[in-house]
Amino acid sequence: MKVDVLLGLQWGDEGKGKIVDAITPKYDSVVRFQGGPNAGHSLEFNNIKHVLHTIPSGIFHKNSINVIGNGVVIDAAILKKEIEAINKLGVDVSQKLYISKKAHLIIPTHRILDAAQENAKGKAKIGSTLKGIGPTYTDKIARNGLRIGDILTPNFIEKYNSLKQKHIDLINFLNFAFELEELEKEWFKGIELIKTLKIVDSEYFVNNLLKENKKILAEGAQGTMLDIDFGTYPFVTSSNTVTAGALTGIGIAPQKIGEVFGIFKAYCTRVGSGPFPTELLEETGEKLRQIGHEFGATTGRPRRCGWIDLPALKYSIMINGVTQLIMTKADVLNEFDTIKVCTAYDINGNISKTIPYELSDEIKPIYKDFKGWKTDTTNIKSEVEMPTELKNYIKYLEIELEVPITIVSLGPDRNQTIYR
Ligand code: GDP
Ligand code: IMO
Ligand code: MG
Repeated sequence: MKVDVLLGLQWGDEGKGKIVDAITPKYDSVVRFQGGPNAGHSLEFNNIKHVLHTIPSGIFHKNSINVIGNGVVIDAAILKKEIEAINKLGVDVSQKLYISKKAHLIIPTHRILDAAQENAKGKAKIGSTLKGIGPTYTDKIARNGLRIGDILTPNFIEKYNSLKQKHIDLINFLNFAFELEELEKEWFKGIELIKTLKIVDSEYFVNNLLKENKKILAEGAQGTMLDIDFGTYPFVTSSNTVTAGALTGIGIAPQKIGEVFGIFKAYCTRVGSGPFPTELLEETGEKLRQIGHEFGATTGRPRRCGWIDLPALKYSIMINGVTQLIMTKADVLNEFDTIKVCTAYDINGNISKTIPYELSDEIKPIYKDFKGWKTDTTNIKSEVEMPTELKNYIKYLEIELEVPITIVSLGPDRNQTIYR
């Protein structure tokens, strides 16, 4: 069997959690391959609303095997809270969660260092979620990191203290005040809990599942425009959010990849700093934010809102080899008279359909207008019930993007999902 990949094509928050939860019944296992608690993946079913940060979004399905892959970075304190919250809902996480020995640990001083470094950047700050993501991946690449497997070794505390001291020296150099004791206490409680979980050689574990003909879904975090190589650098996250990241973040060969599901909102959002050509700074943007409840699932920050951006989507489809598209939050556009689609950029008088080296403020989006459907779509159960204008919008996007849209999401609940 193959590994299907589901990942975001915009700047994150496309609805990955909702869709992974909705399609998990088609899979035996869901694997996260990168990112960490900077992610906030929301899902809703039976009037339960839940946000996941590190745990794969298949966790609420009875028989699913959920794996945190080697490419993920884990904060023990946050993972503990996540597990406790899910256990409260009657799900025994310890029975169906597997954690890679090779996943790196976010230690408390990584978080403080993240804040100290953002602070030092002043106006040039990235708008990080301050979960310690950048410093943890930095230590991984610099070969200083601590991994889950280390917590089982006798000299773990020594390794921990040595890394912590390096961080403290850096934080002091940046003249940043901090309080460590409480953070450390919670973190070590988390470490004790992790020791009781299924810690595995996840590359063998996942490849063995494939040998046993199990179907696997790889769940991405963030989005392609936040990818460390292909996103709007430096306003990106510190991991590869693209399909290639699933190979290194799980330990599977390229020929093991099956379908690549690219997920996008019917409009566009971004949280944190960085360029966003179609951003709406006036009342239309505010309307999208209010109707779409566009506030961060991890930080609560208001998300910046704008129209859909086809040059950016085409770029993401190319980088990821997307074979099927999933469009979410089309219902948020229900009340709009006109819906705009950015088809190209005007860059100092030159028309471009590709993404330039840097997306600067000089870029003016060129829009095509669509008539809104002005109908409630949240109770629609099949495509035939869709208003003509929505069907036209979908048809236009499919032709432009040259990939079929196989799922349309018309609300946050698991059931508000149309399979085409
Ligand atoms: P993720 O990070 O990609 O998993 O997305 P988030 O959970 O951060 O943000 C998506 C938000 O939109 C969440 O609040 C979801 O409950 C909600 N959502 C997902 N799909 C839909 C949809 O089709 N319509 C509406 N109205 N909300 C949706
Ligand atoms: P999900 O998986 C949206 C953004 C941050 C910031 C930049 C770097 O829920 O889609 P980091 O904490 O990684 O150093 O922040 O990336 N960012 C996200 N934006 N959704 C996310 O995850 C994000 N994870 C990070 O806002 O601009
Ligand atoms: Mg999110």
